Amino acid sequence: MVAPVAAALRAVLARAGRAAERSGRAAEAVRVVAVGKTKPVSMLRQLYDAGHRCFGENYAQELVAKAPQLPEDTRWHFIGHLQSNKVKPLLAAVPNLDMVEGVDNEKIANHLDRAVSSLGREPLKVLVQVNTSGEESKSGIDPSRCVELAKHVKLGCPHLIFSGLMTIGMKDYSSTPENFKALVNCKLEVCKALGIPTEQFELSMGMSGDFEKAVEMGSTNVRIGSTIFGPREYPNKKQNQ
Ligand SMILES: *Cc1c(COP(=O)(O)O)cnc(C)c1O
Ligand SMILES: *[C@@H]1O[C@H](CO)[C@@H](O)[C@H](O)[C@H]1NC(C)=O
Repeated sequence: MVAPVAAALRAVLARAGRAAERSGRAAEAVRVVAVGKTKPVSMLRQLYDAGHRCFGENYAQELVAKAPQLPEDTRWHFIGHLQSNKVKPLLAAVPNLDMVEGVDNEKIANHLDRAVSSLGREPLKVLVQVNTSGEESKSGIDPSRCVELAKHVKLGCPHLIFSGLMTIGMKDYSSTPENFKALVNCKLEVCKALGIPTEQFELSMGMSGDFEKAVEMGSTNVRIGSTIFGPREYPNKKQNQ
């Protein structure tokens, strides 16, 4: 019997593939990152056993705890805002960290660059996180500064591989077509300024509620949590008091 999460993933892959084809690309042009935050490793393992390899987490400690429990060929993505003090422990504990989606300031880029170097790791792929829903904030750089930060990562961080841009949209993990359009505009500006071919550029946009629209608008990487794993269950804090 196919595990329910594996069936849900299969449906997501099919929907993402059809959306890619509607955008004039091959179904394989879009990567689905299975976002398992708050979910047990046993559920992630069911997807691994069904052949899936790409998983995302957005709490550093949770990723550090889960990574050793899945095989080494798992490709982990850290998604969202990363704190400077978590960089070194995260990179040390997760040798198969494949991408950090969420570099939103120069300081964090420099921390990552130094940590990769001092650990003697392979260069690490990173996406610059853009806040497409408002003014500059902690989570994502303002679109007007995306070229500046992309340039810093590409030219000033030799141990990082600048691979593209990522956006969350709104704080509640929803996005509008305007958010996606804003990210596409940033991509065009960055590609032009840094001489990067647009077809070699990643755009991480689209989550459970809106990934098909995001793919139609050019996303190469969708981050899907609840549509695969079901609603997130956060521990009730009161129980700890
Ligand atoms: C949790 C999370 C997701 C997944 O959200 P769903 O709406 O459950 O698919 C995507 N991106 C980031 C950065 C997240 O933290
Ligand atoms: C983007 O910035 C605005 C304004 O600071 C803020 O309200 C919003 O929550 C930010 N979006 C995200 C996803 O953090």
